[in-house]
Amino acid sequence: MIKVLVNGINGHMGRAMIHALHQWTETVKITAGVDLDTSTEGIPVYSDIYEVQQDFDVALDFSVPAATMRLVDYCTAHNKPIIIGTTGLNEEHLNKIAIASKQIPVFQSGNMSLGINLMQMLVKQAKMTLGDRFDVEIIETHHNRKIDAPSGTAKMLVETIISASDQQLKCVYGRKETNHRREKNEIGIHSLRGGTITGEHEVIFLGDDESISIKHRAFSKDVFANGAYQAVQFIYGKEPGLYHMDDLLAELL
Ligand SMILES: NC(=O)c1ccc[n+]([C@@H]2O[C@H](COP(=O)([O-])OP(=O)(O)OC[C@H]3O[C@@H](n4cnc5c(N)ncnc54)[C@H](O)[C@@H]3O)[C@@H](O)[C@H]2O)c1
Repeated sequence: MIKVLVNGINGHMGRAMIHALHQWTETVKITAGVDLDTSTEGIPVYSDIYEVQQDFDVALDFSVPAATMRLVDYCTAHNKPIIIGTTGLNEEHLNKIAIASKQIPVFQSGNMSLGINLMQMLVKQAKMTLGDRFDVEIIETHHNRKIDAPSGTAKMLVETIISASDQQLKCVYGRKETNHRREKNEIGIHSLRGGTITGEHEVIFLGDDESISIKHRAFSKDVFANGAYQAVQFIYGKEPGLYHMDDLLAELL
């Protein structure tokens, strides 16, 4: 049984982890949580990681970047593997995570759904096939509580497109007051916010007289929670290093 600590346990993703747990009870147990709101019933929750009394094997993080960094410090000092799902991390945060991964196993993904990770593979294939003959635009839509924009998943899709191209591509966010024609090497990125939408991502390849859309829609946060539980099993017992969803998928195949 792998003992898990959930950072941000009272947030939407933390609750999704509790909701999806019934599918994983033979292998995973949540022994404690950390959140500013400590009201969760049935699981001991602390307002700070350094107060946690229960033992755990893997730390799982769906919180805010400052809390993620505190957990990274804790896990490095206590030699615990960490799974980071929190998005909106800046370069300084990512550098710190890369340094930590030399000492402990770190799994990081801005989107833990299997479908999104398949989408990444399809987008890569499309970009490699279409080259610079098609323009690329990305639209991402999320609920009205989301703080960061563009989404972590949109950034992952951008990275995939850039890695599949030999052009010097540049990101253009929205097109407010740009009084010139679209340049060939742009990736247009557009963020929509509203309502209760869990997460939608669409990559559109626009050519002469034809277009291709690759779209993923998540209907509930359980898709991310189930991916996170797979990541827990993946990272448990691994050597120090920085792991991503494609490492997990490669192991599943
Ligand atoms: N990787 C993925 O698959 C995936 C999927 C969904 C969401 N996310 C990301 O996960 C993060 C959380 O998403 P959410 O929808 O649950 O957000 P949320 O706002 O509902 O939850 C965040 C939780 O973190 C808690 N928190 C704030 N400060 C804290 C601190 N110092 N210590 C501990 N907990 C603290 C908040 O009280 C809240 O309960 C976001 O960055 C989101 O973009 C990632």
